[in-house]
Amino acid sequence: MKEKKTVRAGIVGSGFAARFHYEAVSKIHGTVVDVVGVHSLDVPTAKQYARERDIRFFDTLDALVDEVDVVHVCVPPIAHETVAVAALKRNKFAICEKPLTGYFGTGKDDFHGDRFPRQEALDAALASVERILDAEANSRGRLLYAENWIYMPSIQKEREILEKTGGQILWIHGEEAHSGSHAEYYAYWKNGGGGALIGKGCHPLTAAMYLKRVEGRARNGNPIRPKTVSARAHALTRMGTFRDAGLIRCDYHDIDDFSMMHVEFDDGTVADVFASDIVVGGIHNWLEILANNHRARCNINPNTAMETYNPVEENFKDIYVVEKIETKQGWACTSPDEDWFTGYPQEMEAFYRTIAYGEPTQSDSRLGADAISTIYSAYLSAERLGAAVEVKTF
Ligand SMILES: NC(=O)c1ccc[n+]([C@@H]2O[C@H](COP(=O)([O-])OP(=O)(O)OC[C@H]3O[C@@H](n4cnc5c(N)ncnc54)[C@H](O)[C@@H]3O)[C@@H](O)[C@H]2O)c1
Repeated sequence: MKEKKTVRAGIVGSGFAARFHYEAVSKIHGTVVDVVGVHSLDVPTAKQYARERDIRFFDTLDALVDEVDVVHVCVPPIAHETVAVAALKRNKFAICEKPLTGYFGTGKDDFHGDRFPRQEALDAALASVERILDAEANSRGRLLYAENWIYMPSIQKEREILEKTGGQILWIHGEEAHSGSHAEYYAYWKNGGGGALIGKGCHPLTAAMYLKRVEGRARNGNPIRPKTVSARAHALTRMGTFRDAGLIRCDYHDIDDFSMMHVEFDDGTVADVFASDIVVGGIHNWLEILANNHRARCNINPNTAMETYNPVEENFKDIYVVEKIETKQGWACTSPDEDWFTGYPQEMEAFYRTIAYGEPTQSDSRLGADAISTIYSAYLSAERLGAAVEVKTF
């Protein structure tokens, strides 16, 4: 048996993503992973994170980058470019969470997400994308784009179907939704670079774009890319008429909480993507593919791999059922292994194989770049109440 290579890893950020990255990395079997340490602006949380995992705390980003082969970028989107570029400049790999980057305002106190020209956001986001791609082009490291939807078992099964049958996708529709992000920073455009359209919409959008790439490559070697996008974005929980029943998060400062994008690809086929923060009943993540030779429904969450009935809420008090469900009483789509359906361990397994053995990457920087370009073109379209906007691709 071939000897496994060791990869030294550093985590940047000590919140939600930092936790699931560590979990996923600990399940890798193709390489030996040495998680060296963590760096985060939240020093007490980072020190606790380090203590719990018996790894080192680094008080500067540079000190951490110097001691590792790969940096996990688990910080809010506003800091993705800084952290990823710091790693690439030192010839290290960067595993960058979604979205790749974005537009985070003017930095001035009076910046408000409802009041700026969307063209400015598109231009700034594309400039940030270019800086990241330039840093990668000049690096011996690579940017691995952590879009977990690409590595979900159902999306990878669809890849196999497309590659083996040569199917042509005519329409994809999908959604990512729930009752509101847990992260405090998410309420502000200046941190997330937008609201539901980017924070959630990036997932089904990127999966749809990935499958069209796969289809094109399988047919004639040419990936199929987005051509135009038409979109609407709304702030339903910020409307004066919204009635708070205590189930949906509604403290957003200046972001959209409902969006829809209609993407036309360069072969004339289409995708429709919904993203929102107004859906109760747990996570609602799905993608349906309508092809000329088959149809596939990827039921990501909920799915019926397991169904439980619990007559008394208290019975399940120590049982994790499924993400963001409001009640454990009655019937539930209990997930026996949510991380597996979500693609987190498969994603890290694949990334570490790229780092250690040079295996090709399904989710690379250019896929992340095209997602950013489509998303900020969608914000521009929403400003124009749905008029189609051309999408630049990378
Ligand atoms: N793929 C997914 O399913 C998924 C799920 C949740 C979050 N995310 C992504 O993960 C990223 C982090 O989100 P989160 O939910 O973990 O947020 P979080 O608020 O829980 O954690 C963010 C962490 O980053 C630290 N931080 C902020 N700026 C920093 C900087 N400049 N340098 C170092 N540390 C810094 C904070 O102190 C905090 O520890 C976001 O890009 C988000 O979109 C992805």
